[in-house]
Amino acid sequence: MKIEEARKFHKIDAVVVGAGLAGLRAALEIAKNGSEVAVLSKVYPTRSHSGAAQGGIAASLANVTEDSEELHMFDTIKGSDYLGDQDVIEFFVEEAKKTVYEFEHMGVPFSRTEDGRINQRAFGGHSALRACFSADITGHVLLHTLYEQCLKHNVYFFNEFQVFSLLIEDDISRGVVAWDIRNGGLHIFHSKAVLLASGGYGRAFKITSNAFANTGDSLALILENNLPLEDMEFVQFHPTGLYKHGILLSEAARGEGAHLTNSKGERFMEKYAPEKMELAPRDVISRAEQTEINEGRGVDGKDAVHLDMRPIGAKRIMDRLPQVWELAYNYLEIDGRKAPVPIQPTAHYSMGGIPANIKTEVIKDAAGTPVVGLYAAGETSCLSLHGANRLGTNSLQGAATFGRVAGASMSAFVKANRREKMVEQPLNAAQAKIDAFMSGAGNEKHSTIREELQENMTNHAGVFRNKKGLQELQKTIEELQERFKKVTISDKGDAFNLDLIEAFEVGSMLVFSEVMAAGALAREESRGAHYRTDFPKRDDKKWLKHTLAWRTGKGVKLDFSKEVVIYMDRFPPLERKY
Ligand code: FUM
Repeated sequence: MKIEEARKFHKIDAVVVGAGLAGLRAALEIAKNGSEVAVLSKVYPTRSHSGAAQGGIAASLANVTEDSEELHMFDTIKGSDYLGDQDVIEFFVEEAKKTVYEFEHMGVPFSRTEDGRINQRAFGGHSALRACFSADITGHVLLHTLYEQCLKHNVYFFNEFQVFSLLIEDDISRGVVAWDIRNGGLHIFHSKAVLLASGGYGRAFKITSNAFANTGDSLALILENNLPLEDMEFVQFHPTGLYKHGILLSEAARGEGAHLTNSKGERFMEKYAPEKMELAPRDVISRAEQTEINEGRGVDGKDAVHLDMRPIGAKRIMDRLPQVWELAYNYLEIDGRKAPVPIQPTAHYSMGGIPANIKTEVIKDAAGTPVVGLYAAGETSCLSLHGANRLGTNSLQGAATFGRVAGASMSAFVKANRREKMVEQPLNAAQAKIDAFMSGAGNEKHSTIREELQENMTNHAGVFRNKKGLQELQKTIEELQERFKKVTISDKGDAFNLDLIEAFEVGSMLVFSEVMAAGALAREESRGAHYRTDFPKRDDKKWLKHTLAWRTGKGVKLDFSKEVVIYMDRFPPLERKY
């Protein structure tokens, strides 16, 4: 890499923001294609949240049961409640097998069948055993393997770097400015291409399976640059978050045979999804759990139901689900081999995000006009692969497959194009944010504002939503945004100034939460994970369309003219039953 005299000015072909599966897979592709790439990550790469995905990665290998790409495609479309773009889903299921075999060849230690093939297990909404897995640490092993490969191929890593601004001018991306968390100081990265792969943003909710780092900073930066976000009202609540903590207990537990029971010991899914039972999709199960809780059948009078793993058997629990067992034991002192574990829905995955096309180019309008040199992949993006509800194990697959696509698109782009001129005064926007926190005269604490936001998001934009609650939420967010202007940090130092980083993160969450609330209020129907108690039916006539949302000086501007891609002759919208 050519680092100019100024230590903090870097010129490089490509920058990848985020070191999860999407970011690392993209970086590997770029490096293998002979271009220079720097990965900027706010955490150490192997601590990225992809490592928390437990149960598996989907591909129709048909190693255990019959399966096909067509069936994987149908399940994904149905799971998405018909909001997923079918051209993207078609491409995804075709590439999925290649992605898994690539991982196998890189050395990922997949669990095996008796005859040595990659083993596959059941997961919600999939009608075949399709989840390729490594016990219940699948994300962890994929992440570590990719990191090793990146090191081997000379990817440059800037670990513990927080991006504070995007350098976009005239709809052309020219790089990013990032804060060095360890030492302090801003760095300019002048690049031809930038990939935003910074993961999910479940931290806006009180109960979440997401890591502390998942605060949606890239989304806020996109809005700041007058670009839109897509389908932000669709937030997935995973049915088995560890009670009170929200930590993920893998769906693999149900895939292996665990039951969900209420205070009467009933397997309540019989009422809600008699065919699929505990293997219905997540939106269906989370609503069922919340209904049981709301109607007084929560366990021990609590806002929880039980995950009963005993039907799996002690040996198989320890072989196949060691992490799930350990989490319940460590946090709640419950031995899942002997007793049921209290769980509750937890904010887990965001189907919406930064709109991007099938090549992962970020787009700026419903017509699909790309922002030159800017790409998005993984959970931070919205390629409309998952529509209104994602199926479990399609996320690791989506991140890895579209990470590779992003890498290929960016390699071609950096080879064909010259570096654009740097913007005037590139540090200004980032520096202004730091100055506001450092020298503010107000007495608000970012932690108090964050807690109030999280509480209100869970209460009003959770599993069930309605007009009154969403309007209240909007009012609260507006008030919190006002109060946020008075946030001052007490740590004025450079090294490991987490006060600064956390203030920045709360600012990000306040911005994209406003967009989520506006989309949820506007969409007067129930589809996938977005359930309006005042509009309980799906309404294809009015709402079979995507939401694009911009933040303007006068609130959120919504546009519903982006069409959903549907192959009417193959997968016309049907009623969704399980
Ligand atoms: O339940 C799980 O293991 C999570 C997987 C996923 O979100 O894809």
